[in-house]
Amino acid sequence: MYARITGTGGYLPEKVLTNKELEKMVDTTDDWIVSRTGIRERHIAADNETTSSLAEAAAREAIAAANLTPADIDLIIVATTTPDQVFPSTACLLQDRLDIHGCPAFDVQAVCTGFVYAMAIAEKFIRTETARHALVVGAETLSRITDWSDRGTCVLFGDGAGAIVLSASDEPGIISTHLHADGKFKDLLKVPAGISQGYDKVRKSEAFMHMKGSDVFKVAVNTLGRIVDETLEANKLQKTDIQWLVPHQANTRIILATAKKLGMSMDQVVVTVDKHGNTSAASVPLALDVAVRDGRIQRGDKILLEAFGGGFTWGAVLANY
Ligand code: UT7
Repeated sequence: MYARITGTGGYLPEKVLTNKELEKMVDTTDDWIVSRTGIRERHIAADNETTSSLAEAAAREAIAAANLTPADIDLIIVATTTPDQVFPSTACLLQDRLDIHGCPAFDVQAVCTGFVYAMAIAEKFIRTETARHALVVGAETLSRITDWSDRGTCVLFGDGAGAIVLSASDEPGIISTHLHADGKFKDLLKVPAGISQGYDKVRKSEAFMHMKGSDVFKVAVNTLGRIVDETLEANKLQKTDIQWLVPHQANTRIILATAKKLGMSMDQVVVTVDKHGNTSAASVPLALDVAVRDGRIQRGDKILLEAFGGGFTWGAVLANY
């Protein structure tokens, strides 16, 4: 039994924050942001929106695209770094919103690689015949952990949610998954505040993202180059066998480096970072949904999804769409 993507969905909050607006908030320019990151705008969740509400909108689209109803879903995995609450998990909150009862539901926390991790886990459930229709979501409200006075981070991130349904199939969908992490990089990208360290001791600045941008950049480029090689070698594939690269959307310069490694023209790379910014776990499923809905990615195309993020964590999924 294989796991195949049967539906995709996405949701972006209505409010768009442009680089021009950021120029009024911090000492930055549209030119700097576009030339260093490729980002032109990002979406910001409204006060009454939460990660689970964003996830619900994306999930409903993915379930409808798969020609299913919520009652058909028998596994829910939500990848997020910005859960609504300490507990219940965002997956359980989503389960309640979708009026689904009884199936397993849990969150995965692997920051920007969360969706790739969640997809790999869901695939194991399907291949072992413990689930038939898994709802896999990446959803984030990063604006809530952004320091809007720090120009080094606030220009980078956005809110959103992307979702897929992975269904049991006789034909191969997911071909291989590759997951990695190395906690020795824990201090390069982090939100230092935590629960077991005690809420009362937390300084406000510790509740926001801290990043050593250029250090993260260098490791990201090298690591993503290696994971591309690993995925091709594991499947005895040539670079030309891949039709589409669906990368994590952190920075166009990182995406360009990965495309170059694959010898791919940018026409074969899905880029949404200009419009979405970095939405962490939501970035890969949102990009996938955009390219499926606009008709670029067609049934049978070989697609490579990859991501890199805090931890560090990194991973790739190779699939026939
Ligand atoms: O999703 C998880 C993984 N995350 C990533 O992959 C992010 C990886 N990192 C990056 O994308 C890039 O490192 C950044 C976009 C964050 C930064 O770009 P950079 O080319 O590495 O710039 P930098 O951090 O080396 O800073 C260069 C200069 C500095 O000024 P000085 O010291 O040269 O005078 C910064 O203070 O740019 C300055 N700077 C800014 N200037 C205008 C930093 N942020 C800004 C800003 N506007 N927003």
